[in-house]
Amino acid sequence: MNFWTGKRIVIGLGGGIGAYKTLELIRLCRLAGATVVAVPTAAALEFVTGLTLQALSGAPVRERLFAPLEPDGMDHIRLAREADLVIVAPATADLLARMAQGMADDLLTALLLAQRGPVLVAPAMNPAMWEHPATRRNVTTLQEDGIRFIGPQSGAMACGEEGLGRMAEPVMILETARRLLTPAILAGRRLVITAGPTREELDPVRFISNHSSGKMGWEVALAALRAGAEVDLVHGPVALAPPMGARMFPVGSAREMLDAVLGVWLKTPGEPLCDGAILSAAVSDYRPADRKREKIKKSGASEDMSLELTENPDILAMLSAWSGLRTREGRQRVVVGFAAETEQALAHGQQKLLRKGCDLIAINDVSAPGCGFGAETNAVTLIGREGPEESWPLLPKEQVAERLIRAVAGLLDRACAWRG
Ligand code: CTP
Repeated sequence: MNFWTGKRIVIGLGGGIGAYKTLELIRLCRLAGATVVAVPTAAALEFVTGLTLQALSGAPVRERLFAPLEPDGMDHIRLAREADLVIVAPATADLLARMAQGMADDLLTALLLAQRGPVLVAPAMNPAMWEHPATRRNVTTLQEDGIRFIGPQSGAMACGEEGLGRMAEPVMILETARRLLTPAILAGRRLVITAGPTREELDPVRFISNHSSGKMGWEVALAALRAGAEVDLVHGPVALAPPMGARMFPVGSAREMLDAVLGVWLKTPGEPLCDGAILSAAVSDYRPADRKREKIKKSGASEDMSLELTENPDILAMLSAWSGLRTREGRQRVVVGFAAETEQALAHGQQKLLRKGCDLIAINDVSAPGCGFGAETNAVTLIGREGPEESWPLLPKEQVAERLIRAVAGLLDRACAWRG
């Protein structure tokens, strides 16, 4: 099931120009499958109309503490009780001050006081107001109360100034909300993930590559981030926006990918060692033996041309060989590979697991309907050293990634338990 299906979000709006972006946030929440109730302050209704909020949220707008529509006058309690999450966007300086004081002088602040579940706040204000000691105090108080903040971001402001004060983008707010609601089964862990194709250059204008879109690896990175992990994403050329919060390592060739992965895997100065690696990149097995410095010209005569290729290093096999290295806390590291097969998928996958020496391998038949390069879905069988672990039906890549991350978290916990 889609993550947001059946989730109820209350979106509270303060009176700031950032409210125009909240309209997009409401649309995104609904597109994702969530139910939204908009609760604007009186000041917010100076910037956007109740009708706009109602049209976008698809639900009556709640704005009054003592609404005649509600015979029991208990909207603030009911909304808080029913909400999985309250998002306050834009959170103005005045709204933050009232929240920090625990005031309940309108519907939004009253329901925030009654809310027992998570609250996510996206501040937006003039940079001087954000830096003011009073706002700083209020932000600290609210953080100590367990309220999560996203932004503000730096940039050009509606007031003409430049600085810290812009409301975070709606996609970032939605992604942060999702992470807030996802169990942090990988908190404190660090993973290196590979994704996408590699490119092996023949000359300055040509290369050998493959059809990998990078989607599977991207979803794995997102699922790991949502589960609370730190993620180093080493990726070939793809047309995808970076997952929020991932450290990005763009590379071209297989050898560049190996260097970047080993750089993270073996040691980054001052950083904790990785706990695991999930290698979903479609690495070119071969590269041209001799990369020409100048463009290869046609010979003139209509002759065939042959290319000499040489084997690339196997990143998965190399990492597995080094997985005995312990993390700082003495934990066993976990290495996971993917196996792209077109026939006898299970048998070939099992052989690959043994040959490469990894802990888990996610086998997928790339020739099956709905699977493979560029597809939105994938059907995976997960096998470990002791044999098949799980076989999943055709699922959106997002859900395949979630299941894989659960399996990796389980393996890391087991590795941790063995060490005592
Ligand atoms: N892999 C790797 N380095 C390589 C080749 C593959 O790290 N040079 C990794 C992939 O990221 C994947 C796994 O090994 O996790 C299996 O990749 P796959 O393409 O299925 O297998 P190959 O090793 O290329 O074997 P074959 O082409 O014979 O199926």
